[in-house]
Amino acid sequence: MTRHARPVILLHWVTALLIVLALVAGKFMLEPLANDDPAKLGALRNHAILGLVLLGLMLARVVVRLSTKAPPPASTGHAALDVLSKVVHVALYALVFVMIASGIALALQAGLRAAVASGDVALLPDSFHDYTPRRVHGLVATLLIATILAHILGAVYHQRVLKDGIMRRMSLRG
Ligand code: HEM
Ligand code: HEM
Repeated sequence: MTRHARPVILLHWVTALLIVLALVAGKFMLEPLANDDPAKLGALRNHAILGLVLLGLMLARVVVRLSTKAPPPASTGHAALDVLSKVVHVALYALVFVMIASGIALALQAGLRAAVASGDVALLPDSFHDYTPRRVHGLVATLLIATILAHILGAVYHQRVLKDGIMRRMSLRG
């Protein structure tokens, strides 16, 4: 077998796109908005919905990944790099779940549902930064970005330097 199962491939790209969207929107649209800005509630609602959709898709992804046969691991020819590649893959799954869990914990602690349901920004805390889940969310966002960059660098190394056609393993075409 030369590639992952179709649902694994489809879910890889859909979740990759939505994760990058959540990271970019979180950093550049959500976080810069002050908590007394009326636009904050809509941004928070959209962000939380995206996070919950990702929870469903990531759970589906883990189920299909574990219940389908994966191609044998792609080797780089270096034992240490092969271990690193495994660590990066596991870390990508784990960090995304920590983002979702800390987001939900923050929403519960800060009473986000009541604020969004009533449409009243005054019900939001002055800032989320005093909440522990918020610190975890911000720190893990940075870690996730670094891990995604390492993952992309790894894919480029396989594709361009090793020329082992790694992209075919995650491609629906060809
Ligand atoms: C341009 C961006 C990306 C490219 C080119 C890319 C490419 C790939 C390729 C080729 C594989 C297959 C590796 C193999 O079979 O050994 C893979 C696996 C994987 N990718 Fe990506 N990816 C990208 C973005 C992402 C993002 C944003 C995430 C999530 C945060 C992600 C998470 C994963 C995970 C967890 C695996 C391991 C799959 C498994 O074996 O369970 N990828 N990626
Ligand atoms: C994979 C899923 C998620 C990603 C990638 C993500 C990403 C982000 C990022 C990048 C930030 C800005 C952090 C910073 O720059 O310090 C942020 C903030 C936030 N996120 Fe998420 N998030 C996710 C899921 C969730 C979920 C499920 C919820 C709630 C149910 C949530 C609630 C929040 C809140 C309340 C903030 C704080 C906004 C502020 O401080 O003004 N997130 N998120």
